[in-house]
Formats: sequence, structure tokens, C-alpha cells
Amino acid sequence: MVQLFSLALIFLFIYLVHILVKFLLSPDRRRPKLPLPPGTLGWPYVGETFQLYSQNPNVFFASKVERYGPIFKTHILGCPCVMISSPEAAKFVLVTKSHLFKPTFPASKERMLGKQAIFFHQGQYHSKLRKLVLRAFMPDSIRSKVSDIESIALDSLKSLEGRSIDNTFLELKTYAFNVALLSIFGKDEIKYREDLKRCYYILEKGYNSMPINLPGTLFHKSMKARRELSQILARILHTRRQMKLDDQQHPDLLGSFMGDKEGLTDEQIADNIIGVIFAARDTTASVLTWIIKFLGENPSVLEAVTEEQEAVMRSKEESGKERLLTWEDTKNMPLTSRVIQETLRVASILSFTFREAVEDVEYGGYLIPKGWKVLPLFRNIHHSPELFPEPEKFDPSRFEVAPKPNTFLAFGNGTHSCPGNELAKLEILVLLHHLTTKYRWSLMGSQNGIQYGPFALPQNGLPIKLFRK
Ligand code: HEM
Repeated sequence: MVQLFSLALIFLFIYLVHILVKFLLSPDRRRPKLPLPPGTLGWPYVGETFQLYSQNPNVFFASKVERYGPIFKTHILGCPCVMISSPEAAKFVLVTKSHLFKPTFPASKERMLGKQAIFFHQGQYHSKLRKLVLRAFMPDSIRSKVSDIESIALDSLKSLEGRSIDNTFLELKTYAFNVALLSIFGKDEIKYREDLKRCYYILEKGYNSMPINLPGTLFHKSMKARRELSQILARILHTRRQMKLDDQQHPDLLGSFMGDKEGLTDEQIADNIIGVIFAARDTTASVLTWIIKFLGENPSVLEAVTEEQEAVMRSKEESGKERLLTWEDTKNMPLTSRVIQETLRVASILSFTFREAVEDVEYGGYLIPKGWKVLPLFRNIHHSPELFPEPEKFDPSRFEVAPKPNTFLAFGNGTHSCPGNELAKLEILVLLHHLTTKYRWSLMGSQNGIQYGPFALPQNGLPIKLFRK
């Protein structure tokens, strides 16, 4: 009995020595403990969520930056967060050390868009998808689509002619949706447009709903619409496979996904098509809505843009060339392009993005603990007076000089930056060409408010009246 007790004591002693040695040799112990960034974490669990949502979120961010500097901690929606608002820190998170910060979204969004969609991934699978998406949206692939986009723009404007438009954003969503379908399905889109639209419009209502999957709830209806959307996509895939056409004949996103030699599954294709519609539509429609507002409020800029667009039109008439716009025409609109850049900066429709630290990370002498959310604050960078003097002023001429590196982040930066940026700029230019040369508009009601849905938008989606010139 005594022997057994001594043996147990020896084992206990060896075990304790082992733990002690491990503790003394651990790299964490030898490394000096870094402080967390400055800031406050608020109440247990709710943190500072009320402070953020009880006011314009940008006022919350700006007051924190003023108090704590460009990197600070807070606690939002149950998650400890580090917010960053300097171009250097944003580059560190999004570009240089992007492998240490994974994208992160609410689980309900993942279920709606589909968990195989590009946004939620890192590493090999993400690189493969990105290559396929970029292939479909690079200038060489979209230049052939200019005239189709133009006819969608002309139809959209015609449908609004002479009307009081209660919500300009809603109307422009239809335009951006139709262009997104064109870039995904090519000419096939017309056959499926109405079915896809009906399902997608039900699906999107659930994006910000409570994730309660019970009959009658918004979430339940959305999930049902998502299943129907997948079935329509399966039919389109089946038809293309039967026609045995390869991606050469289909220079669109679906062709790019189907032409991949390694092969994506149908589910992966469906998740990414739904994801691209989501990424392409409200963003582009929101930017266009802001442009219409800023041009309406700045008559001298509107006049200069109109002159530039009329010159494009005249040069086509004089040369006796086809009247349809070409890719080259859209590259000959420098002032209108600066208006787009300045709108992207002032409106900063994506105020920030989310990442999560995959391990403890040191930045600027602070610890960003594993599992904490990290938010690069795009809007604060775009509204910093050191980087953009008089930041609240709408002044497209500031883009006559290229912005300093990593300071203009409207399309993000690095690994997950926007692969659709060329298409977005193209469809905005085409619509603006016809809007400014053929139409006049007046802004209705109060113009000062901003709403978030989740992208920043003029109050009530910008009611306007549109007239033919
Ligand atoms: C003016 C309109 C647009 C704006 C302001 C915009 C902005 C952005 C930003 C900031 C990101 C990066 C988000 C992050 O780092 O977390 C992003 C990603 C993305 N955008 Fe856009 N976008 C626009 C239009 C489009 C269009 C037209 C498409 C497709 C045709 C598109 C497809 C995507 C995709 C697929 C991603 C995810 C990329 C990845 O995770 O690798 N976007 N966009």
C-alpha cells in the first residue's frame, strides 16, 4: 500500500516537473505580453452595440478614432473587435498578412448565399474561384458586352421617362440585376430573366432577417426561393451541357465556371452565381443613385460631364461610325470616370469590411488576439483630411492626381478585392452617357439623410423626376 502511494507520488512529481518545464520553455512566456489596442469593451456580451447602432455608425467610428487613434478595440454584436483606420494597417490586414485574417460573415448569410461562395474562403479553393471569376470580368471578356449593356441601359431609362420616381435606387437595382445576369449567362439570360428575378427578389428579403426557419417566416420563404433558384440554375447547366458548347463560345461567368478543367460541382457553381448577383447588384445601384444625387447638387460638374458625353456622341456622328457605344468610347470619358471615383470615395457605400484573426497577431506594438474580428474602416480612410483635404466636399478634380497607395479602397484591396470593378465602372459609364445626353432630372424632398440597407444610400432611395430633354 505504502509502495503504491510512493509510486503515485513519483508520477505526480514527474507530471508537475513536465508541466513546469513546458511552461518555462513556452514561446508565449518568453515573448513579452503585448497590450491590447486602446479602447473600451462596454457591457458584458452586448459590448458597445447600442452606442454603434443608436447613431450614424460613422459618427461612432470617427469619435473612437479621435479618442484612441487609428487602431482601437471595441465589442460589437457579441464579438470583440479591433477597428483600424490607417492605410498601412488596412494593407497589413488585407494584403501583406491576409493569410492571418480570414473573411467572416453571419452564419445566416452563409446559408442564404451558399457556403461554397467565394467570399467565405481562403487558400486554394478561393484562388481557383478568383481566377475563374476574374477571367469572366477582365476587360477583354467584357468589352464585347458594351452594346448589350447599352440596350439594357436604354430600356431602363425609357421605362422611367416622364415619371416621378419614388425610389431611384429600386429602379437602378433592376438595371444592375439585368447587367449582372447578362455577364453571368450571356444571351441565355433573357430566357430565364423573369424566373431568376422572382426567386432572387424573395431570397434577398431574407438576407437581414432573423434566421428562424419556420413556415411563414421571411427566412423560411427565402430558403425556399433559394432552392428554386438552384433548380433553375441546374436546368441552365443541363441545357448548356447538352449543347456541348465550351467556354470559348460562352465568354461569360457560367462559361468560365463550366470550362474549368478541374471541374466545379453544380452546387459550387450555384453558390457562386447567387453570390456574384448579390455582390454586383445593390453595390452598383447604390453608387449610381449617389452619382445622380451628387450631379443634381453640383450643376457645374453636371454641365462638364454632359459636355464630355455630348462630345463622345458628336465624334461618333461626325465620323459616320456606328452610333452604338464601344469599349474605346468608354475609355474616353476621363471626367465622368473621376465623378465615379469621387462618388465612391464620398459615399463609401461599404463603410468597412470584416475579417477574423486566425492566430494571435502583433501589429504596431499591439496584440490582435486569435478569434477577434478585425474591421478595416474604409470610410474613415476616405474621409481623413490628411489624405483627402476637405473630405466632405464633392470634388472630382481631386482625382486628376492619382490617390496615394492604399488610400482609395472603394473596391477593397488584396486577396479579396473586387473582381467586378471593371464591369461596375463600365455599366455606370454607359448609363451616365445616355442619362446626361438625353435626360434632365430634379431631386425631390429632403436630401440630407443616409440610410443603410446594408450599403449606404441617400434617404428613401432618392426620389426624383426624370424628363426627356
Ligand atoms: C460599384 C460597385 C461595386 C463596389 C463598390 C464593390 C465593392 C467591393 C469590395 C469593397 C469588395 C471587397 C470586400 C472585402 O474585402 O471584404 C468586393 C468584393 C467582391 N465583389 Fe465587388 N463591388 C462592386 C461591384 C461588383 C460587381 C459588378 C461584381 C460582379 C460582377 C462584384 C463582385 C465581387 C465579388 C465576387 C467579390 C468577392 C471577391 C473575393 O472574395 O475574392 N462586385 N466588392
